[in-house]
Amino acid sequence: MAWNFAAGPARLPDAVLLRAREELFTRGDDGACQSERPFSSPPFRSLRQHAGQQLAELLGLPAGYRILFLAGGAMQQFSLLPMNLARPGQPAGYVQTGYWARRAMQEGAVHRPVRALAASDCGMLLDVPNDLAYCHITTNETADGLAWPNLPETGTVPLVADVTSDFLTAPLAVDRFGLLYASAQKNIGVAGLTVVIVREDLLERSPQTLPALFSYRRLAEADSCINTPPMLALQLAAMVFDWIAGQGGLPAMAASNRRKAALVYQAIDASGGFYRTRVAADWRSPVNVCCQLPDTALTERFVVEAETVGLHYLRGHPQIGGIRASLYNAMPAAGASALAAFMGDFARRYG
Ligand SMILES: Cc1ncc(COP(=O)(O)O)c(C=O)c1O
Repeated sequence: MAWNFAAGPARLPDAVLLRAREELFTRGDDGACQSERPFSSPPFRSLRQHAGQQLAELLGLPAGYRILFLAGGAMQQFSLLPMNLARPGQPAGYVQTGYWARRAMQEGAVHRPVRALAASDCGMLLDVPNDLAYCHITTNETADGLAWPNLPETGTVPLVADVTSDFLTAPLAVDRFGLLYASAQKNIGVAGLTVVIVREDLLERSPQTLPALFSYRRLAEADSCINTPPMLALQLAAMVFDWIAGQGGLPAMAASNRRKAALVYQAIDASGGFYRTRVAADWRSPVNVCCQLPDTALTERFVVEAETVGLHYLRGHPQIGGIRASLYNAMPAAGASALAAFMGDFARRYG
């Protein structure tokens, strides 16, 4: 058995792969499969509508929010956010928790002034000046392996979040956010699609001068279809949403993810310091488990030996080093158990 622990693009659920094999390129009575049809055609419209409804149900989407299905990745939103939500010269706040929060702030700074903010130990308290256009957090730091234990209070300043690596891995209090965004290639499907969920009142902030494809307001007005949307990626996303619903929704995803992560964290904690995590216990990510080995030679040996027993893509992010296991929704418990057993064995042999 081979297991893919990649951080994204990541594993799809087996059932979705099987369904995709049957449905993606099968032509209907109109002589076309979904990705061959005009995006304004009734079958494609109904696919989009189904995807939107299914996602809204999974999230328990409150009234007053819009779901946008956009082309591109999460990094595009690093630029679209300040362009849409902050007036020229108005600062935006970015809580600095790790690699992706830093990248979001660096891109934001190209367009508007930025303020670096610090998270408190428990994650709840933030000192947020109320002149900020928004306060940005990265709910799960994919490269560092840490996740916010609580959503912070930001007063009247809208909370904006990059939820790319933990979207749909647990229930989410959407009503706490002004806007959230996630690219698809971790828990939604395949690269090319990004989901943006935005509170309707914030759409009024998009300046008239923005190009249509950069304007959340105009994208929302056009129901995300100003130009050809990423049809194949959306079709796969709809299958993933159906799969999650069939598994029992987000509470079931959260329970399964917690169990998988616990297996791997137990292997870290039982290793007597052979594997070390830099993340405080409350902040450990339930989906990206990261740790360091005593040195880079052992890290390399770990990665190579793991591959020989079918455990793939465990090398940590290049900026962070160490190893990283991504245990998103589609990773079965058997993959996490196999990894935990290998980690125990490796620590006994080299510790
Ligand atoms: C938290 C987070 N934000 C942003 C990105 C960048 O996403 P994309 O490649 O879709 O632009 C990633 C990619 O891994 C990520 O993990």
